[in-house]
Amino acid sequence: MERTAGGGLGLVDKLLIKGGISLNGAIAVSGAKNAALPILAGTLLSAEPVVVRNVPQLKDVATTITLLQSMGVEVTFDDKLNVEANAGNVVDRRAPYELVKTMRASILVLGPLVARFGEADVSLPGGCAIGARPVNLHVQGLEAMGADIKVENGYIHARADRLRGAHIVFDTVTVTGTENLMMAAALAEGETILENAAREPEVIDLADFLSAMGARISGAGTSAIKIEGVRELHGTDYTVLPDRIETGTYLVAAAMTGGKIRLDRAAPDHLEAVIAKLQEAGADIQFGDKSIEIDMRGKRPKAVDIRTTPYPGFPTDMQAQFCAMNAMAEGVGTITETIFENRFQHVLELQRMGADIQIEGHTAVCRGVKKLTAAPVMATDLRASAGLVLAGLAAEGETLVDRIYHVDRGYERIEEKLRQLGAEIRRVVG
Ligand code: UD1
Repeated sequence: MERTAGGGLGLVDKLLIKGGISLNGAIAVSGAKNAALPILAGTLLSAEPVVVRNVPQLKDVATTITLLQSMGVEVTFDDKLNVEANAGNVVDRRAPYELVKTMRASILVLGPLVARFGEADVSLPGGCAIGARPVNLHVQGLEAMGADIKVENGYIHARADRLRGAHIVFDTVTVTGTENLMMAAALAEGETILENAAREPEVIDLADFLSAMGARISGAGTSAIKIEGVRELHGTDYTVLPDRIETGTYLVAAAMTGGKIRLDRAAPDHLEAVIAKLQEAGADIQFGDKSIEIDMRGKRPKAVDIRTTPYPGFPTDMQAQFCAMNAMAEGVGTITETIFENRFQHVLELQRMGADIQIEGHTAVCRGVKKLTAAPVMATDLRASAGLVLAGLAAEGETLVDRIYHVDRGYERIEEKLRQLGAEIRRVVG
């Protein structure tokens, strides 16, 4: 017995996919998980009610809401995807291990808690299926802002009077690190400059959200972000941007199945690196203002070379999906992962579906096979599991993807959306 998608104990959900059907039709993109999570954490920064719209219904969002509620934040999440959060009466400044271990992004409450309340006790995220994911840069940044931090018994204990602005240069580009310190700096005394900051669209979305609450931030989207701290932030009503990784995943699904699909409510500008690689693979791509259409009818993708780098480079969160595409593409493609170690677990499962992929250090060399064949496979992390679902859609026969709770962390109603595009896919429990 393991955790189910619903979070309770019980049998594990699996996806049963009948492969070989070309995807066709149109679906709407959901709100971005990686923007919704920091924005929800950011609701801790104000004592006034905040409305956040276009929040995707995902396991990670549910975990974040549970975490906020455990601190005393009043949160409602309605079926129109609107969250209303009121952090006017926060009684507990703790993020317990039980929640943090299921979602590393829980670390995002650290900055807001220290900045607003002067104290936070946040569990260390611990091991992660995609390699070591330290939070030293979050901690060092807060220390530079005057926080006193002790790491004891698996917890980060942070204390501060009022944080002070600081000049922080990140050793490595870190997305949640940039976000955590941007939130902390919003309420600090004086000016903070974050250099070598992450430039992801989700960082900009968080900055826009904080600015709507009265924060004074400039430079988000560049590698130098300036934050002029203010005494307090007020309530606001904000809409989360579209999920570029979800968008990219469905585009690859269409490419792998020789389909033609349109994604509505998308943000095409955020997908340049991914789209360039799809075009290289042979896809015909058309853009609307807020839509993207891919046409791959009658074609087999050509293998492409990928190297993951921070935005605007090719996203590590799309690596497993392109690995799946290369596995059945024409020719040889290499995938080099530079962001995370140990992020090739999907390769072992793809090999069970007939893929010819060799891992050499940080590079996976994929020699495309004509047809992948169905097999029972096991999801190991969020994006790896997306790669396996895509492989299942393209493979001959029925693929059973186990441990689908990883998919539910990041893809809203995946089987419904895929069915809308004509796929034969259903959730089975057992
Ligand atoms: C975020 C995304 C995740 C994506 C990743 C990289 C969210 C909620 N998650 O994760 O989907 O895969 O960006 O685009 O937005 N590092 C350190 N010290 C630190 C922090 C990070 O060494 O204190 C290293 C990491 O080990 C990794 C690299 O920096 O090698 C990038 O990690 P980071 O950008 O922090 O990833 P996350 O923010 O966790």
